Amino acid sequence: MSRTPPTLAVLTSGGDAPGMNGAVHTLTRLAHTEGWRVLGVREGFQGLRRGDFTPLDASDTLRWARYGGTFLGTSRLPDFRDHLATFQEVLTRAEVTHLAVLGGNGSLWGAGVLAEKVPGLLVAGLPATIDNDVPDSELSLGFGTAVETGVALMDGLHDTAEAMPRLFALETLGGETGFLAQAVCEAGGGDALLVPEGAVTEGEVVAQLEPVLRARRYALIVASEGYAGYGSRGGDLVATLERISSALGTRYRLSRLGHAQRGGRPCASDRLLASALAHEAFAALYAGRSAQVLWQRGRAAAVPFSADASVKPPLKPWNPRGWGR
Ligand code: F6P
Repeated sequence: MSRTPPTLAVLTSGGDAPGMNGAVHTLTRLAHTEGWRVLGVREGFQGLRRGDFTPLDASDTLRWARYGGTFLGTSRLPDFRDHLATFQEVLTRAEVTHLAVLGGNGSLWGAGVLAEKVPGLLVAGLPATIDNDVPDSELSLGFGTAVETGVALMDGLHDTAEAMPRLFALETLGGETGFLAQAVCEAGGGDALLVPEGAVTEGEVVAQLEPVLRARRYALIVASEGYAGYGSRGGDLVATLERISSALGTRYRLSRLGHAQRGGRPCASDRLLASALAHEAFAALYAGRSAQVLWQRGRAAAVPFSADASVKPPLKPWNPRGWGR
C-alpha cells in the first residue's frame, strides 16, 4: 500500500530579502533527497489563505538562488490571526505536514502561531529581513547584501564629496530600527548616525561634524528611514538636515536609497547564510521538531518560537572610530 510522502510547503513573507531564494532552493533540495513532496506558496500568508500552491523542483529553484527578491512572491497580512481556521483547512486539504516560513519578526511570530495552533503541523521559521531586527539572531537573510548596497553608495558619496566638499546624507531603509543604517555608517565611513533608537540630539550631531568639516571640508551623515518617519520622533529628515546644515554653515545633499536597497543579487555571505539556516531548519523538521532557526555565535541554532512579535533587540552603541573618522 502506497503511503503519501511528507509534504513541505515553503513560503516567504513580509519584505523580500536577498537570500530568500537560496534558502528556498536548499530546503527543496534537502526535502527531495528524503523523498518528500515540496510545494511553494505564492505570495506568503495571503497565498496560503487562498491555497495558492505550486510544486517546487530543485533544478528550477537552483536557477533562482542567485537572484534577489523572492520568486515565490510575498505579502503582508496584518490580520493574520483572523485567518487561522482558513490556514488550517487549506493546509489539511493540501496534505501539508511541514511548513517553512521565511521572513522578519511578524512572519516568524505567525509561523510560531501556526506551529502551536494547527494540529500535527511542524513549522520552521528562518529570519529573512534586510532590517536585521529579529531578536536573538545575530544575522538575518538580506542584511549583508543591503549593507553592501549601502556601502557602495557611501563610496560614491565619498568620491563626489572629495571633489566638491559639503555635507551629504544617505537615508537607508530599516523600518523602525537602525541596524542597517548603523552598519552602512560604520562600514562606509560615515561621520554621524541618525537612528530611531539613538538619543543623539541635533546639537550633538553638529558638534560631531564641526571638526570633521574643518579637517576635510566634507562630512557624511547616515540616517535610518525610521529616524524621522517610523519612530516616535515624528519628525522630518529634510527639516532636521536643514537645521544641522545651517548650524554648520554649509549646504547639504540628501540621497534616499529606498526600496532599491532591498533588491540586488545576494552577496556571498547571504548565500552561505541561506544554506546554513535552511540545513538547520530542515534538520529540525526531519527530526520532528518545530523551531525558529536563528544565527547565534556564528552558527545556525534551532530554538523555540517567540510569543511576542513586537520585541525589538537593542542597538549596540555606534562605533565612532569607524574608518571614516
Ligand atoms: O522588510 C523590511 C522593510 O524593507 C523595511 O526596511 C521597510 O521599512 C519596509 O520593509 C518597507 O515596506 P513596504 O515594502 O511594505 O513598503
